[in-house]
Amino acid sequence: MSLKVGVFIVIEGIDGAGKTLHSKNLCLQLHRKGYLARYTAEPSGNVIGRLLRREFLNRRKAPPEVETLLFAADRFQHLRQEVMPTLRRGGIVVSDRYIYASIAYQGAQKVDIGWIRCVNNFAPKPDLAIYLDVPAEVAMSRIRRGRSVMERLEFEKRVREIYLKLVKDGELTYIDGDRPVEDVDKDIFNIAIETITKKHIAGT
Ligand SMILES: Nc1ncnc2c1ncn2[C@@H]1O[C@H](COP(=O)(O)OP(=O)(O)OP(=O)(O)O)[C@@H](O)[C@H]1O
Ligand SMILES: [Mg+2]
Repeated sequence: MSLKVGVFIVIEGIDGAGKTLHSKNLCLQLHRKGYLARYTAEPSGNVIGRLLRREFLNRRKAPPEVETLLFAADRFQHLRQEVMPTLRRGGIVVSDRYIYASIAYQGAQKVDIGWIRCVNNFAPKPDLAIYLDVPAEVAMSRIRRGRSVMERLEFEKRVREIYLKLVKDGELTYIDGDRPVEDVDKDIFNIAIETITKKHIAGT
């Protein structure tokens, strides 16, 4: 699946980093500037995405390799049914999580990262992939649900390390999410506009 027109932006981060809030705020700011922008999220509202949400809610634990494949299947459908149609119309898609979440979350459960990339090789590279960085302790204090706090804290720390490695390797663009909402919004908006402008100038 190739990205011919439109602009595909992804926002990543650990649980509670502020992805949903800041992705929606970015869409609102883009609307105000007159852009067609669509907020969307993984897991999607399609059949596999709903299965994944139910799986997590019920805390049934499928092997992480099975999770990897289900997330990849959901990603394929999400791209086909939601992302691509908006991009083809020249719109901007802001996705709350993408392939980097599979690398970080399933990678933190010891699934081979090369294999995760391999089963996701249909997924186009976004025009901009932001990593919203928040220390695990701060993120956990923003949300309080699910597993015991200590177990979850250790896990999210491992997830954050993988995200930070992706930043270091240049796959993700770092934004410090541990600041007032307006400051984070402003930085995300500026880098999004820069990406949109560059793509439009390049005429792709
Ligand atoms: N920069 C910020 N400063 C303070 N609070 C924030 C900030 N960003 C988000 N929050 C708050 O933190 C909570 C979690 O934010 P949000 O739901 O956007 O995170 P998330 O990354 O989407 O989490 P999840 O992975 O669980 O979906 C919300 O109550 C939100 O209002
Ligand atoms: Mg969210």
